[in-house]
Amino acid sequence: MPRVTLGEGRTPLIASRRIARELGLASLAFKLESCNPSGSYKDRFIAAELDQLLARGVRACIATSSGNTGASLAAYAARYEVPCTIVVSDSTPTGKLVQMAAHGARLIQVRGFTTNGAITGRVMTLLRDYAAARPAALVVSAYRYCPGGMAGVESLGHELAPAAPAHVFVPAGSGGMFIAVSRGLQATPTRVHAVQPAGCSTFAASWQRGGDAILPVESHTRVSGLSVPFDIDASLALAELRSRSGSAWALAVPDAAIFAAQAMMMEMEGISTEPAGAAALAGLIQALQDGRLGKTEPAVCIVSGHGFKDPAAAEAIAARHPAVQAEADELESLLA
Ligand SMILES: Cc1ncc(COP(=O)(O)O)c(C=O)c1O
Repeated sequence: MPRVTLGEGRTPLIASRRIARELGLASLAFKLESCNPSGSYKDRFIAAELDQLLARGVRACIATSSGNTGASLAAYAARYEVPCTIVVSDSTPTGKLVQMAAHGARLIQVRGFTTNGAITGRVMTLLRDYAAARPAALVVSAYRYCPGGMAGVESLGHELAPAAPAHVFVPAGSGGMFIAVSRGLQATPTRVHAVQPAGCSTFAASWQRGGDAILPVESHTRVSGLSVPFDIDASLALAELRSRSGSAWALAVPDAAIFAAQAMMMEMEGISTEPAGAAALAGLIQALQDGRLGKTEPAVCIVSGHGFKDPAAAEAIAARHPAVQAEADELESLLA
């Protein structure tokens, strides 16, 4: 039992009802990482990372985040009395900003961070030097920076092992969660696939080109959490893909397909997900359309973050079902 916990992990695995039927799939399930305490899989990372940092005597943190690492860190840091500063992007959705601020974290929004490769690189170097010169830990949800915390995410793979799916689809930004799930299922025949947005495809582009270089990209994706335009864990994710000798895929899907998958999950399954959490389903649909995925092969999609994280994205779906404005005496005829 870890010392640091808010009850993360052991999230539900829910069988699809309508989407499986619509796609003609024999077996599709959703792993609801959105049910973690702060609403994303990052709680597995933060619980493990903070556990190790506190055991080492670290008493302050500085973190970078597209939103969910920060929301999670802010919650656990409040509980364990760890002062934290979180550097976020200017495009972080309001749901995640509100979580961080409400838990009392110090927030710094840097323009271009997580969307522009050069700015992101500069910020990372500055923060690394800052943390090295002080008794403060730099928290970044990636194997390159925090391998101990990322090992905590491997529990996600372990939890899926008893269900023995043929395929697991994982949303990917830097690729850390993909590596963790793949490692967690290493001893099983399950094939683990990474899904990046085409507008910020680092290691998926390299995998498709057949090369080893991770080229920095200018991110054009509007999917919060998946905009990681340079190599944090991308090289490691590519190595993980290559180690699977062709059984693992890296898919790059357009933003429109991700937003459409989010609407399907909201409207057809009752699953509240932020856009990033729907990328796995968008990847699965692309693999089906490519003829790579067989309809009888059981598949799981990781739903990595809750719908409340990104109210603007949820509102765009809600706008398809506008409320009718009425006076009380109009109600009877409206209901008829
Ligand atoms: C909801 C959500 N899904 C997926 C990811 C991508 O994780 P990774 O950067 O480890 O690939 C993130 C990262 O912030 C996220 O917040």
